[in-house]
Amino acid sequence: MDRLRIVGGNALSGSVEISGAKNAALPILFAAILSEQKSIIRNVPLLADINTTLKVLDSLGLGTLFKLENHTMEIDGSTLNAHEAPYELVSTMRASVLVLGPLLARKGIAKVSLPGGCAIGARPVDIHLMALEKLGATFTIENGYIEGHAPNGLVGAKINFPFPSVGATENTLMACVLANGKSEIHNVAREPEIVDLAIALRSMGAKISGEGSETILVEGVKSLTGMNHGVAPDRIEAATFLCAGLMTKGKVTVTGISADFMQSALDFLSQAGAKISSTKDSITAEYVKELTPLNIVTEPFPGFPTDMQAQFMALLTQANGKSIISETIFENRFMHVPELIRLGAKIKIKGNEATIEGPVKLTGATVMATDLRASACLIIAGLAAKGETFIKRVYHLDRGYEQIEQKLSQIGAKIYREKDK
Ligand code: UD1
Repeated sequence: MDRLRIVGGNALSGSVEISGAKNAALPILFAAILSEQKSIIRNVPLLADINTTLKVLDSLGLGTLFKLENHTMEIDGSTLNAHEAPYELVSTMRASVLVLGPLLARKGIAKVSLPGGCAIGARPVDIHLMALEKLGATFTIENGYIEGHAPNGLVGAKINFPFPSVGATENTLMACVLANGKSEIHNVAREPEIVDLAIALRSMGAKISGEGSETILVEGVKSLTGMNHGVAPDRIEAATFLCAGLMTKGKVTVTGISADFMQSALDFLSQAGAKISSTKDSITAEYVKELTPLNIVTEPFPGFPTDMQAQFMALLTQANGKSIISETIFENRFMHVPELIRLGAKIKIKGNEATIEGPVKLTGATVMATDLRASACLIIAGLAAKGETFIKRVYHLDRGYEQIEQKLSQIGAKIYREKDK
């Protein structure tokens, strides 16, 4: 197993090109199931979760061709010959559940292993199933698998989400585009990745409007063509690099992304005292004075993203005073806290609220990455810690950050991947 070694203390400076968004690429790759033709998907990030997605698509019989040099992926929808996402794959990536909507829409049958719990909470799929049932699918749960049937096709419906779940919005949208008639989906997720999925589906001939608002309208069509789509940039990767720059009292520019993808995170960085400037396709965050503490509540988009909570927590160990972070999206998403404490952070947890006292002098230690964003948080902390920090279990990181060591080295970080002893 690999580990990361970070020698802290260097101020980061320079510019980093942002990759395609993992959370946009995953549903868009699964959307290729909807067409009998070839889809071309560009700007796909090279990540472990993308490889898992390709394995899921392969297990469904879809021919996949990944051209590594230019991040372009070709998926041939004509060879679809199965309808099951097996346990081995779903257990490594919960997002595999996103095959449900497209398979039910195209084949009228889908079987997916129940995802089970994951490190950051229980994460049930009840909203996905409720919405697909409204479209006429029926489900049985047996032997750890969900099996869905819609032998006569899906039928458009009015659906109200009890909570704007990102995955349920994506699954439902992919199901509605081939359903017979019109659908109205209320209280949906508004994340930029949903908007990107809608753009990709429209390039296949889907009739969708309202994405990015609370209600999405879909008029079902009989069939879809292949897509030709470039995946939107990764706002979480971008915000992570900006936090890393500020943590080291540096100045970092992220390119290939505009501020409207990540306004909430940028507002909080400004509020903390960072100097933020942007062009239509770049954002710069510069450390200009001691950081002030923040009071952050994670919320569905356009609120502050739960996927940036851990990285901001690392940053707030350097703010002058008491910060509070409330996590409202996932239970059990503070597993990075004991690891940050090992590096010298002063953090107390009460329920879903973490209180961070700063500024503290962090010192290098051996820490354990527990999930994807926790890994990024520990890197950020390690970059400012005195001495060497070793981060174990970096495979979490490889699920969601493309070439993070190379990108960080390029702007002055001393970060090395080595075999864990
Ligand atoms: C997606 C993102 C993830 C991000 C999250 C919230 C992908 C691949 N992953 O995850 O990085 O942290 O959005 O922005 O895009 N819930 C239910 N029942 C359901 C579905 C969800 O109770 O049927 C709950 C979940 O347990 C969780 C909350 O709703 O507490 C948010 O989940 P959701 O928005 O669905 O997140 P994901 O799509 O899993």
